[in-house]
Amino acid sequence: MKRIGLLTSGGDAPGMNAAIRAVVRSAINSGMEVFGIRRGYAGLIEDDVIPMDKMSVSGISARGGTILRTARCLEMLEKEGRERAVATLKKYGIEGLVVIGGDGSFHGAKCLTEEFGILTVGIPGTIDNDLEYTDFTLGFDSAVNTCINAIGNLQDTMLSHERVCVVEVMGRRCGDIALYAGIATGADAVLLPEEPFDMKKVAAHIEETRKMGKLVNTVIVAEGAITGEECAKQLKGLLPYDIRFNCIGHIQRGGTPTMADRILGARLGVRAVELLGSGVGNRVIGIRKNAVVDMDIIEAVSLQKTFDSALYNTLQMITM
Ligand code: F6P
Repeated sequence: MKRIGLLTSGGDAPGMNAAIRAVVRSAINSGMEVFGIRRGYAGLIEDDVIPMDKMSVSGISARGGTILRTARCLEMLEKEGRERAVATLKKYGIEGLVVIGGDGSFHGAKCLTEEFGILTVGIPGTIDNDLEYTDFTLGFDSAVNTCINAIGNLQDTMLSHERVCVVEVMGRRCGDIALYAGIATGADAVLLPEEPFDMKKVAAHIEETRKMGKLVNTVIVAEGAITGEECAKQLKGLLPYDIRFNCIGHIQRGGTPTMADRILGARLGVRAVELLGSGVGNRVIGIRKNAVVDMDIIEAVSLQKTFDSALYNTLQMITM
């Protein structure tokens, strides 16, 4: 394979730039040419394509976001949009495409593979950690660390005022950001889409901790479970304490990627190029037990994410 294309799609995630750099550098070092497609599939449909050289990715690993920019592209759901995307690939002689994104982006890649035989390789870039075939997605570690820092700041001020702090984090339908942040910050309750919850029990638990001498409480809410605002409203009706709600929002999606995400981006990027270089496509790459793995893209997108009940049990066992 002589020419590959590269795009980032869906919500950006810290570590995407490290993956872009790894794809570009390792492809050029293996004798290939690389074209960057800006704004994800939207740029592919609209022919927003740039050649990339080694210098074009210099110094980007430490930066959040994606230098290629990204978009959520509804046209890719239509056959006509996909035909235009393929026409752009043909125009530049691009034989293989690396797609960095989440499950929606992989669906786009899957269609290009199934309908047009384009060789695609997917790198899991999303803060949500909602893909079953990989232990971690690119950006998850950074997003959780950003949440942990923000929650730590909140806990300082909430303790000073003896308040109950309700914090909403992202994750779409997946509770992993909330679960990991909850364990790491010593939350009193973590509300997840994967586990049923009862607000009266949450309130009763907070009361119990106050009787034991606790002066501050943290309730972490995954956006897929209930909104933080609604949770705070319900708790206000059940508890006599000052309850404040904060939503971390898009802050958790930006910022300097952690070491884990930079290394993961590098490893996944290099493997993507290795696969395309040996003429293998229609795969997604992930990490399992700290080894880089790859899987059929169609199989990977059909898998349902399983909930880490052992980790949830850990959370429960260390809660007061
Ligand atoms: O998929 C990443 C994510 O940040 C989700 O956690 C969140 O639900 C969604 O994207 C927000 O999307 P947008 O930035 O388009 O509002």
